[in-house]
Amino acid sequence: MSDLPLAIAIDGPAAAGKSTVAKRVAKALAYIYIDTGAMYRSLTYQALQEGLDINDESSIIELLHSITISLDQNQQVYVNKKNITEEIRSTDVTNHVSKIASISSVRKELVHRQQVLAANRGVVMDGRDIGTSVLPDAEIKVFLIASVEERAMRRHQENLQKGIPSDLDQLRKDIELRDKMDSERKVSPLKKADDAIEIDTTSLDIDEVTQRILQLVKQYKEKA
Ligand code: DC
Repeated sequence: MSDLPLAIAIDGPAAAGKSTVAKRVAKALAYIYIDTGAMYRSLTYQALQEGLDINDESSIIELLHSITISLDQNQQVYVNKKNITEEIRSTDVTNHVSKIASISSVRKELVHRQQVLAANRGVVMDGRDIGTSVLPDAEIKVFLIASVEERAMRRHQENLQKGIPSDLDQLRKDIELRDKMDSERKVSPLKKADDAIEIDTTSLDIDEVTQRILQLVKQYKEKA
């Protein structure tokens, strides 16, 4: 049995519960958690803030090279030291982030930054391409899925709890569109890695999903 720190990759479509589960797994193992979607969102936020044309790829990459994006272990997100944790979840950012995430030079740079953050292992990272391109050698790879209806309903309830106005039908359409853009983009599309374990969370709660992943970690360590 080995107790070396591992890299755990959690991928899947929008609103499949990745970040909630990833945070819990990281806490249980005392690993760091890295939300890679927050990095794409931060760049999108800053581009919108500066009034850049989202389709102008060269100005977007130039912006990326001029800013620092940092995440702390309390899940606070900063651009150039400004806390933008709340702002990156806005509808405006959500509706533009897939376009930014489809720019290959942006992906190359952010994947590199993510690999640096994960270099020491002991990490749970969630996103769309962690198992396929950021950490292809992660010891544990999980691909979370859930029906579109279930994912829209989870986001809807989350919004209502936070007191944010929410339209279930619109959420479902937005999620479908994001799935389509994330899966059909040319550069590292959303795709299950061949060696990832798929978990359908439609009828599982957060605790059950967390326990399944912790079980995979335990099995891996027993064999190692
Ligand atoms: O997980 P999220 O909703 O915060 O991700 C925001 C967007 O960023 C999503 O539309 C896809 C993109 N993304 C990506 O392309 N690759 C990642 N590793 C993480 C997110």
